[in-house]
Amino acid sequence: MTKIFLDTASMKEIEKYKSWGIIQGLTTNQKIFLKEKGCNFKQRAQEILNEIDPLPVSLEGPNDFKGILEAAADYGSWSNDEGKPFENIVIKVPMMGNGEGLKAVKALNEKFVKTNVTACMTLNQTFLAASAGATYVSLFYNRMKDWYKETYPSTNNTIGNDEVYALETIAQTQVMLKLHGFKTKLIIGSIREPEDIESILKVHPDIITIPPKILEQMPFNDKTESTLNDFEEAWKEFKKYESK
Ligand code: E4P
Repeated sequence: MTKIFLDTASMKEIEKYKSWGIIQGLTTNQKIFLKEKGCNFKQRAQEILNEIDPLPVSLEGPNDFKGILEAAADYGSWSNDEGKPFENIVIKVPMMGNGEGLKAVKALNEKFVKTNVTACMTLNQTFLAASAGATYVSLFYNRMKDWYKETYPSTNNTIGNDEVYALETIAQTQVMLKLHGFKTKLIIGSIREPEDIESILKVHPDIITIPPKILEQMPFNDKTESTLNDFEEAWKEFKKYESK
């Protein structure tokens, strides 16, 4: 079953979508926190961790080995509302081109710290992250499509080659993780349209992390609305003639 994570740092959005009963985890990133201008990172992160508990929350750190380990130690020292260490913290580790992210995953794994290796675009990157012991790997759907369009501009893009490329990579990655017996779960991020979800669900990844602005559009369909109006009218008509 594909799980839904929420891609946000907004308490209002978290409360709203929690109440829908569909959220099974949360991811954040630096761009998401930028939208929450003026908030204090530590304070907001702790609020989110308490609100989402016991579900996993991916929190970002710096983009270097030492900084990631320091951030993980810092977050690990925080206490929840009950005065106990948070058990739902996942440290986001960037898939750095020099392999330092993998080194960080290994070091954190040895300390039983959960990790989410982020900004992956290829099966090779996810294979390495899983081999290093990552709890989650994140493939970025629309950024993979962007990469395809930038790399192969001449085939641009009459039959949706970028989408085929991204979906095939996701499907192969999911199969690779399962066949090789990795415990690592696959998260698909970089969702920009409700239609992205429909495409991605066809290759059934473990998790899709969805921004609130996409999630809010998903229950709506104009034909559903007009159907409900029809039913409402019929009900009013029935009530006129209902025997007392
Ligand atoms: C996923 O975890 C990221 O937070 C996010 O989806 C990146 O999305 P973008 O490519 O639209 O910036």
